[in-house]
Amino acid sequence: MTGGAGGGEPAGRRFVVAVDGPGGVGKTTLSRGVADALGCAHLDTGAYYRAAALVAMVHRVDLSNEAEVMAAAAGAVLDYEDGVMLVEGIDVSRAIRTGEVTAEVSRVSALAGLRLLLVGRQREWLASHGGRGVVEGRDIGTVVFPGADLKVFLTARPEVRAARRAGQESAGIAAVREELTRRDHLDSTRPVSPLVKAEDAVVIDTSELTAAGAVEEVLRLCAGFG
Ligand code: DC
Repeated sequence: MTGGAGGGEPAGRRFVVAVDGPGGVGKTTLSRGVADALGCAHLDTGAYYRAAALVAMVHRVDLSNEAEVMAAAAGAVLDYEDGVMLVEGIDVSRAIRTGEVTAEVSRVSALAGLRLLLVGRQREWLASHGGRGVVEGRDIGTVVFPGADLKVFLTARPEVRAARRAGQESAGIAAVREELTRRDHLDSTRPVSPLVKAEDAVVIDTSELTAAGAVEEVLRLCAGFG
């Protein structure tokens, strides 16, 4: 479907959609849907931070030791393709979503040096995909691709976010809500690249939207680039 079947953006040229927001707002579902409709690739940058945390944990690195965490991540080949996170060619998509990794990933993602390293890898990913992609995370519109063609910042009511995540993780809603609140706080108060809306981002509240409805809304915005 290359050629912007669902949106008006021109075929073939560089085109980046940045999708930011906290956990449980529907970033991955939306980003995949938009990428499919535009005929381009999708990148979940959270998977890179989770993979870095996993690699450090497997190497039994002290997660507050930035140099050691960075050395472990720098020595690992990370790839992301079609929703699958690969470390050294091994599919770690499930391993990076265990409770252990989820509990530690905010700590790891607050390390400035590690962020620099992973932002570099994320930019390489886009270059290797012809400069076209839908990229989701926390700092995509502000730091990774501040020149993105379209920036979307997703929000949703806390109870909606917790219910969505609980469904994905087969965990209780109360525990998930507590974990989301803890991570929101860590992610938005860290000194480096905190979760903030880019000034030029379009805010979409997904609380009352279906997945297809949210995709349609973003495709409508993309159509403005025809
Ligand atoms: O989206 P997620 O829950 O899989 O993200 C995992 C963690 O990584 C989360 O604590 C926020 C962090 N993260 C980040 O700091 N910057 C990004 N671009 C993406 C995720």
